[in-house]
Amino acid sequence: MREWNFSAGPSVISAEVLKEVQSELLEFKESGMSVMEMSHRSDIFSDISNNAKKDLINLLKVPDDYDVLFLQGGATHQFSMIAFNYKHLSSTADYVTTGSWTKKAFYEATKIFDPNEVFKSDEDICKKVPNIEELRLSKNAAYLHYCPNETIEGVAFHEIPKIDTPLIADMSSVILSEPLEVNKFSIIYAGAQKNIGPAGLTIVIINKEFMEMGNKNLPNILKYSEHSKSNSMLNTPPTFSWYIAGKVFKWMINLGGLDYFEKQNKLKASLLYNFIDNSDFYENTIDASSRSIMNVPFNLKESKFEEKFLSEALNNGLLNLKGHRSVGGMRASIYNAMPLEGVKDLIKFMDYFKSKNN
Ligand SMILES: Cc1ncc(COP(=O)(O)O)c(C=O)c1O
Repeated sequence: MREWNFSAGPSVISAEVLKEVQSELLEFKESGMSVMEMSHRSDIFSDISNNAKKDLINLLKVPDDYDVLFLQGGATHQFSMIAFNYKHLSSTADYVTTGSWTKKAFYEATKIFDPNEVFKSDEDICKKVPNIEELRLSKNAAYLHYCPNETIEGVAFHEIPKIDTPLIADMSSVILSEPLEVNKFSIIYAGAQKNIGPAGLTIVIINKEFMEMGNKNLPNILKYSEHSKSNSMLNTPPTFSWYIAGKVFKWMINLGGLDYFEKQNKLKASLLYNFIDNSDFYENTIDASSRSIMNVPFNLKESKFEEKFLSEALNNGLLNLKGHRSVGGMRASIYNAMPLEGVKDLIKFMDYFKSKNN
């Protein structure tokens, strides 16, 4: 039986999508084989891959002067690929570190050149994202890297920084959750395993002019321009993840696209945060202006109840609520494919648990 899965990633995929995949698993459209068994260069897979790309472009309204790449390597691979491609443009690049993933991105970049950490929280966990005035920007940075939604800490930017430096964003846990002004960015990247589909696929949306400024002397596998030239088929792409991502995009379009998901996501998040804020049993310590609409970390004010909370939640069909090992506590990831009903059931359980243990 499928239960409510609050995992941070890999995470819930709509049952509708999975059933469609199931019905095509053994044989895809009279091809005599599964998508898993097809050549990535076959006509039939080209239809699948081109349609998925087209649908993603439509969903995000990606402008013509951008390309969309379907790569391997995860978001983590982008941490170094970005630095390798653009370190020759300047002596530095600016990094805003608001949580675990941006710290990792910054650390990887330090192995490649001399990036500048332009913001660092004074606290162990950043509770409020900085505004522009708080960034100690470099004069000629090659780019500014930030993460609009830190998956582990649940701290998020709700506005795009207004700066002249080329903007690069790790949108792994927030892409497709709401409409996005793609033209404000030089590169947007995201691992697929939250709002896009199964792990193994990484989406890169890149401004073509910025792409051509990439270091020409890199191995092909590290060059955005080579991946673009080969339509993301420089080597074998993650074909099955790409196919399922295409199904997710169609599912999203049929439900009303990003406007629909933005409304749903804001509603789900506000229900959960309101419940937590009005309770004397649970707490979320992130500043209200910087709270994530995708990942909602919370603590029980009395930590002695944590194990009991998790095991009873599990018995009530609420899976993967344990916070990341680095921060502890609980975390409910409520991505696009988590229905409102799932969040309401979580709140009902939290209320019940509180009444029994308070
Ligand atoms: C914001 C963010 N960046 C980067 C990563 C790393 O992604 P991957 O495991 O695909 O390399 C994650 C994974 O959860 C993430 O949430």
